[in-house]
Amino acid sequence: MPKPRKVVIVGAGNVGSTFAYTIMRSGLAREIVLIDMDRERAEGEAMDLNHGLFFAPPVSIRAGDYDECAEAAVIVITAGARQQPGESRLDLVQRNVAICKSIMSEITSRTSEAIVIMVTNPVDVLTYVAQEVSGWPHGRILGSGTVLDSARFRYLLSDHCKVDPRNVHAYVIGEHGDSEVPVWSMTHIAGVPMSQYCPLTCRHTCTDQDRAALFDEVRESAYHIIESKGATYYGVSMALDRITSAILRDENSVLTVSVRADGCYGLEGVCLSLPAIVNRNGVDRVIETELGANEQEALHRSAKVLGDVIAQIAL
Ligand SMILES: NC(=O)c1ccc[n+]([C@@H]2O[C@H](COP(=O)([O-])OP(=O)(O)OC[C@H]3O[C@@H](n4cnc5c(N)ncnc54)[C@H](O)[C@@H]3O)[C@@H](O)[C@H]2O)c1
Repeated sequence: MPKPRKVVIVGAGNVGSTFAYTIMRSGLAREIVLIDMDRERAEGEAMDLNHGLFFAPPVSIRAGDYDECAEAAVIVITAGARQQPGESRLDLVQRNVAICKSIMSEITSRTSEAIVIMVTNPVDVLTYVAQEVSGWPHGRILGSGTVLDSARFRYLLSDHCKVDPRNVHAYVIGEHGDSEVPVWSMTHIAGVPMSQYCPLTCRHTCTDQDRAALFDEVRESAYHIIESKGATYYGVSMALDRITSAILRDENSVLTVSVRADGCYGLEGVCLSLPAIVNRNGVDRVIETELGANEQEALHRSAKVLGDVIAQIAL
């Protein structure tokens, strides 16, 4: 039986340990367990975090092994090889498929009740692999997908329009990677469509060129951060806190997590990000809406990129 607020994190590297810190601060979990093949690293991270407990909401934090998964409500997988400078996320695939399969076998031999959030890249492909090897209902295994990319998009739009990012509604869908798609047709600021907002406020133009430049920046963000500091972990950890909160608090939040397409938007046989309702069941359902013709085409191109990779991997 899962404990309602127990979170197990597999991979105590940059992302795993920063996520542990994030949920320790937010008070989301009662128990946080860090599992890593480098047990010493997991022990060290747990010790460091525990020394901050005097300043944080009560939570038990420890390093552990896979037996801890038996009672986990949420298991977050961040273990794997990380992107090297100049390396695309898809280049990582073969290295991380093998790691994903071995971790999923450890997890599924101990529980079938947790919700699994895949973070390791290429996240869409590994979400698919985890679903396939587990045999669990697809909604119980989701990827962090483009929740981070959507947040980057909102931040850059908010900066462009000089408005609080929390008033910006914007989604990035498709692959968490180079073929991802901005859904301009769904983008609005406090209910005002983007196409009207800029002329209304008279602060900036919002030409097709402006849009293309802004979205290039969203897409290139991870590459820039990795070039400059070697890894990205703060933004993604806050995105993971948001997803975990939607699950543990049964929020029915709309998030662009990576889901099995299962016929949505005319797509099959891939996992990719679509706006979905996330609650204690994981992905409850995908929100299907009419996209612009260009957006629909770009989404299908993105799905093809992922489908081609999936076709090449040995499961
Ligand atoms: N989806 C996203 O939005 C997003 C954002 C940032 C990073 N990432 C991805 O997250 C992953 C982790 O990034 P990071 O910067 O934390 O890397 P990292 O190298 O700092 O940490 C990875 C950890 O995984 C552990 N590990 C490797 N193989 C393992 C195994 N078989 N079992 C248990 N532990 C194992 C390593 O010991 C290491 O501690 C990467 O794949 C990265 O590309 C995803």
